[in-house]
Amino acid sequence: MNNITIIGLQWGDEGKGKVVDFFAPEFDINCRFQGGPNAGHTVWRGKEKFVFHQIPSGVLNKNITAVIGAGCVFDPAIFFEEIEQLKKFDEEIEKRIKISKYCHLIMPYHILLDKIKEETTQSIGTTKKGIGIAYEDKYARIGIRVGDLFYPEVFEKKLRANISRKNLILMDIYQAEPLSDDEIFERFLEYGEKLKPFIIDDSVFLSQVMKEKRIIFEGAQGTLLDIDFGTYPYVTASHTIAGGACIGLGVSPGYINRIIGVAKSYTTRVGNGPLPTEDKGEIGERLRSLGSEYGATTGRPRRCGPFDASVVRYAARISGAQELFLTKLDVLKEFEKIKIAVGYSNAPEFDPFIADALNPVYEEIPGFKRDISRIRDFDDLPVEAKEYIKLIEHYTGLNVKYISVGSQPDEVVIKN
Ligand code: GDP
Ligand code: IMO
Ligand code: MG
Repeated sequence: MNNITIIGLQWGDEGKGKVVDFFAPEFDINCRFQGGPNAGHTVWRGKEKFVFHQIPSGVLNKNITAVIGAGCVFDPAIFFEEIEQLKKFDEEIEKRIKISKYCHLIMPYHILLDKIKEETTQSIGTTKKGIGIAYEDKYARIGIRVGDLFYPEVFEKKLRANISRKNLILMDIYQAEPLSDDEIFERFLEYGEKLKPFIIDDSVFLSQVMKEKRIIFEGAQGTLLDIDFGTYPYVTASHTIAGGACIGLGVSPGYINRIIGVAKSYTTRVGNGPLPTEDKGEIGERLRSLGSEYGATTGRPRRCGPFDASVVRYAARISGAQELFLTKLDVLKEFEKIKIAVGYSNAPEFDPFIADALNPVYEEIPGFKRDISRIRDFDDLPVEAKEYIKLIEHYTGLNVKYISVGSQPDEVVIKN
């Protein structure tokens, strides 16, 4: 058995796309198990950039078969756009992509309601991709799944019932225009035809290949955005933690055996909600500009601040991550001093219930003040960078096994 699970240990955008792409040459299958096109996972090839939203990030590697698992919510329009962009890399990429028939569809009314709610009653700062509303319908047991598209009569019944319900909400609560079901019905039947060759039962597929194939389970978002363990209600609507891989793909927890947590060398968050180490002054601004901290999906500026060791320790515990893949260390090269939050003055550890009120305690060490993006050997890292890594290990309790020093796939230092 040779599987790895890649989990974000902060508020998303830790560099999971790059990490998955880094490991992908040694693997056969790469699965997403939750979330949808709210994700923006960036992978670089020289000067060319791909931002993956729905499709797993390892797929640029031709050895990879990509699976969009049952726990995901799926927007066909975004999927086909992504396929078109990826074709310039591999004309036959479609042959390597599979979609679970159990995935819930993101319907136009989910996107519309997400937007309207964000602009009126809700203030989460969502990506407006319809994610939360699609999961609402899933749990209300009125959702429509990809597999429903192959039974037009069933699909039509479900769709019309949903649209009449949503039109009531749109008109009565939000004074918005009602939707027409005919156009949506036709459009989604067409999607169904186009989707047929991609569809699998992910649980069956994985059980057949699990013994001889090597699999990457790719988390989206981050632990602090998890629906249960994140900074609720400022979270996404799915299980972003390692356990999510089992329920989102229909595989046994016994298969999830090597969990690699990903964390940035500092902290970022996009959208609303608590961020204990947020720096609204010079440090935050410099991190944003030096780290190009703008959302890969929405382009929004990310809120930035120092690394918060308690947050990462909290997240690593929930997923059982023992190894840390530390990203974007190169971004800190301009700083005279590097600050790290090692705890809080008013709480023994990170607690999402009081995250808004936590008062971080910082340690400060000298910066390394040089370009480290060409370094590949751990011993060649500046002594100050090694010191910073040691502090992170000490306060998170994790082994920093990999250090990313640039956005290209080979810009990684492995610590033995
Ligand atoms: P994800 O959602 O976790 O996959 O992360 P995003 O792609 O949203 O954001 C991470 C950003 O940092 C992307 O633009 C990556 O290309 C970039 N990146 C990843 N690792 C590194 C690194 O080590 N150094 C630098 N400078 N950029 C990195
Ligand atoms: P990746 O996979 C960072 C945030 C949104 C918002 C909250 C809820 O690229 O790390 P949603 O649209 O999911 O209902 O929004 O979650 N969010 C992300 N932040 N990275 C992401 O994905 C995110 N996906 C959602 O900004 O605060
Ligand atoms: Mg992202």
